[in-house]
Amino acid sequence: MSTVEAGPRLRRSFLFVPGSEERKLLKAPGLGADAVILDLEDGVAATRKAEARRQILAFLQAQTSHAIEWLIRLNGVDTPHFEADLEAGVRAGPDALVIPKVDSPETLHQVDAHLTEAEHAAARVPGSLKLFVQIESARGVLNAPAIATAMPRLLGLMLGHVDLSADLGIRAGRAGEGIVYHARCQLVLAARAAGVDAVDTIHLNIQDQDGLRAEAAQAAALGFTGKLAIHPAQLPIIHEAFTPSAERVQQAEKILEVWRAAEAEGRGVCTLDGALVERPVAAGERRILERARRAGRL
Ligand code: COA
Ligand code: MG
Repeated sequence: MSTVEAGPRLRRSFLFVPGSEERKLLKAPGLGADAVILDLEDGVAATRKAEARRQILAFLQAQTSHAIEWLIRLNGVDTPHFEADLEAGVRAGPDALVIPKVDSPETLHQVDAHLTEAEHAAARVPGSLKLFVQIESARGVLNAPAIATAMPRLLGLMLGHVDLSADLGIRAGRAGEGIVYHARCQLVLAARAAGVDAVDTIHLNIQDQDGLRAEAAQAAALGFTGKLAIHPAQLPIIHEAFTPSAERVQQAEKILEVWRAAEAEGRGVCTLDGALVERPVAAGERRILERARRAGRL
């Protein structure tokens, strides 16, 4: 079953905040993101990793609000930063970690072994710290189905099309076309088949609001459960795309009314304005209402 229906939270937006930038960290709690990714990886210069770890630790220890999910993105398992990142990541007590550049289940098992050790050392329950992984290479995309089912601590797959494009030797262009579009479809299928979240890639141009709106709507239509963000102005646009509109809610209520009436008369199918309504249609409409309820629109 998909986490959109079953999961405790709506995770429509994930805002990246560079861990070395205190001004942005301090703004993060008030920006309205569903989840915030405190970054130690590519948003932080190599010379400032230690400082970023300290800042993230202090910042998270001071947080009391549970309205936002706090994630920490570590550097990759094969980098010299990973061990210290992991230690800081476990100590800081985030809601989950984000592991970048995962291209096979083996990479993820390697991370899991280190993490289990760190959990033991910190007297935490092994397996309790959850993970999101970023798929951002050709190998990662092809291995997405195996990665998605690799372990219970996995909450979702996130696409990274900038690194993926670099890996493919192509320009990081629009996510709505070409091979990146194919990768998005593959990632959604892999994640949803495994019952974990599918999180769409970033929209690079922070001034291009129309482009983001179209891309986020397409992501929602493809079955993504949320989208990565790099700037606060992207959040309302992403939320709009991943929250059923008032008209959509009305339509769902109408379809369910017709369906209930048909069911009461012992019929398994009926139509509304010419469109077929049957069990899977009704189930889909209930999910729309559930999403609207969780987003506070019902
Ligand atoms: N998190 C928190 N606050 C942010 C933010 C973010 N990701 N991006 C911008 N802001 C804040 C800025 O600090 C600024 O606030 P201020 O005026 O009080 O200082 C306000 O929002 C407006 O920002 P703006 O001036 O439009 O953008 P910028 O030029 O300061 O920053 C980026 C542009 C792209 C550098 C910035 O958005 C950013 O750092 N994004 C994250 C990038 C990242 O993490 N990349 C790695 C993962 S892909
Ligand atoms: Mg990346």
